[in-house]
Amino acid sequence: MKLIILGPPGSGKGTQARLLENKFGLPQISTGDLLRKAIAKGTDLGKTVKEYMDDGKLVPDDLIIALIKKRLEKPDCENDFILDGFPRNLDQARALRDINKIDLVINLDVDMQDLRKRLISRRICPNCGAVFNLIRKPPKAEGICDNCGSKLRQRNDDTREVVSKRLITYMNETEPLIQYYRNKHKLKNIRDGKDIKGTFDKICNVLD
Ligand code: AP5
Repeated sequence: MKLIILGPPGSGKGTQARLLENKFGLPQISTGDLLRKAIAKGTDLGKTVKEYMDDGKLVPDDLIIALIKKRLEKPDCENDFILDGFPRNLDQARALRDINKIDLVINLDVDMQDLRKRLISRRICPNCGAVFNLIRKPPKAEGICDNCGSKLRQRNDDTREVVSKRLITYMNETEPLIQYYRNKHKLKNIRDGKDIKGTFDKICNVLD
């Protein structure tokens, strides 16, 4: 199955995509993770995109479309994949339409107030990529990754100020994709139940 997980920042796209990857073996492709890896490695792409990401803006379409095109050409994406964070505007959605046929779009529908809280209290493991939340999913030992024991950190774009900018970027550029995919009869809306497992169960019901 070729799936898109759509939703605002902090709606749980990455969390749910990773659960789906574990359960069904579909490769999860997160453009945010690919970009953060490029920054960590200090590549030319990483140097170019850092400023946009730290400022809560979308990185330029030509860069992101080239990145996703290259990733989707890999053999593991021939039949199945989960896109997390792409497409993010109408031009990206049209570019994707020309690259690959999507089966289903899951839209994670979460209250704005919850999104702010989730993002500001998110902590990530820079080593294994595990995601925690100080309120909803705290690590067993404070500040330490349950999986690999590395020190957790906050993402640069999870500060109060940048979170506000990201939510505005979402409303202006990404939200129109809900109607775009609804018109194509591909969209399933999942009202978030405020707990990760409850949301995952709802998604699995849709996929059954
Ligand atoms: P990206 O990394 O994609 O960030 P995002 O879309 O803003 O989404 P997040 O990763 O912040 O949140 P999420 O929905 O994955 O939530 P998560 O599962 O972590 O992109 C970052 C930047 O890269 C962009 O701003 C842009 O600059 C650039 N970029 C990326 N793609 C691009 C593109 N296509 N075009 C242009 N630029 C692009 O969960 C959040 C927190 O909530 C966690 O702590 C989690 O534990 C908790 N949580 C999750 N689900 C629940 C639940 N149901 N109940 C309670 N808590 C929950």
